[in-house]
Amino acid sequence: MAAELRFDGRTVVVTGAGGGLGRAYAIAFAQRGANVVVNDLGVSRAGDGTSSAAADKVVEEIKNFGGKAVANYNSVEDGDKIVETAVKAFGRIDIIINNAGILRDRSFARMTDQDWDLLMAVHVRGSYKVTKAAWPFFKKQKFGRIINTASAAGIYGNYGQANYSAAKLALVSFTRTLAIEGASSNIHSNVIAPIAASRMTETVMPPDVLEALKPEFISPLVLYLCHESTQESGSLFELGAGFVAKLRWERSKGAVFKADETLTPGVIAAKWEEVTNFQNPDYPNKTTDLNLLELYEQAKNLPSNPKGDDLKFDGKVV
Ligand code: NAI
Repeated sequence: MAAELRFDGRTVVVTGAGGGLGRAYAIAFAQRGANVVVNDLGVSRAGDGTSSAAADKVVEEIKNFGGKAVANYNSVEDGDKIVETAVKAFGRIDIIINNAGILRDRSFARMTDQDWDLLMAVHVRGSYKVTKAAWPFFKKQKFGRIINTASAAGIYGNYGQANYSAAKLALVSFTRTLAIEGASSNIHSNVIAPIAASRMTETVMPPDVLEALKPEFISPLVLYLCHESTQESGSLFELGAGFVAKLRWERSKGAVFKADETLTPGVIAAKWEEVTNFQNPDYPNKTTDLNLLELYEQAKNLPSNPKGDDLKFDGKVV
């Protein structure tokens, strides 16, 4: 059997840990020896009101089994105060789980500026502020682990969630850039798109499905990614109900055209099948995986693109 992955001596901040997924992470880290800052503003699903009760209850649960935890009631928008709580209580900060979140679902036609701005403030600015405050500690100690929380809605889009999905995909690119900038300092950053039973999903799923989607089924991957022995960084995972998978980008082989005055919209239309064909795809992983200048050199030697009467698309001259 593999040795238990432990977190003794490590300090973890879990944002939005007063319920749902965050509570499950906080308990799992504490069970494996970590010092945990249980952050929660105690708001409603839509982000209204505030209460210290949610965070206090989870701290009590952790203390009841002999774990180490303190509460913090700041909004993630005041990330520096949350990190300050960690450093004051435990003398260090090692792991950040950016988990706090709210929903303001509305069709795009009905979405207000406030629905948009609040979602960006909590998910994107909140993750930024907490991570920004921890970053200098991570750099100095040459160790840091960050988990950001995306969503399937962010990857694929979802009706009524233009604000939420935009915020969630922003966290994927945030994660990837932090992984690049943190690599030389042993700072790893990964992002998850979980699916789990919580107050966020309890109204949209039947009870037997919710039973299969326990938040406790998400924690193991989060803990694995945060362990000091884990090398994975910059990656996106979709998981829930015991399923765990990594996602990556796929790019069609694409079409190469002579890049001159004969490259017209009609030329693109005529080769649309080639542009969108995913047989023999590439799996680009960084900005430089597409060398446009090399492709341009290759394209220069192609014959001019067909024009006028030679070019037919859907039976029409284009
Ligand atoms: P939840 O509503 O049970 O927990 C979110 C917690 O964040 C709440 O306790 C809330 O008080 C807290 N919070 C909200 N705004 C805050 C702020 N400004 N500062 C500090 N705390 C704040 O929701 P759940 O399901 O546990 O979600 C956790 C994360 O996972 C969220 O980021 C959510 O978007 C994401 N997620 C959840 C999915 C699911 O299936 N449950 C699916 C995809 C993503």
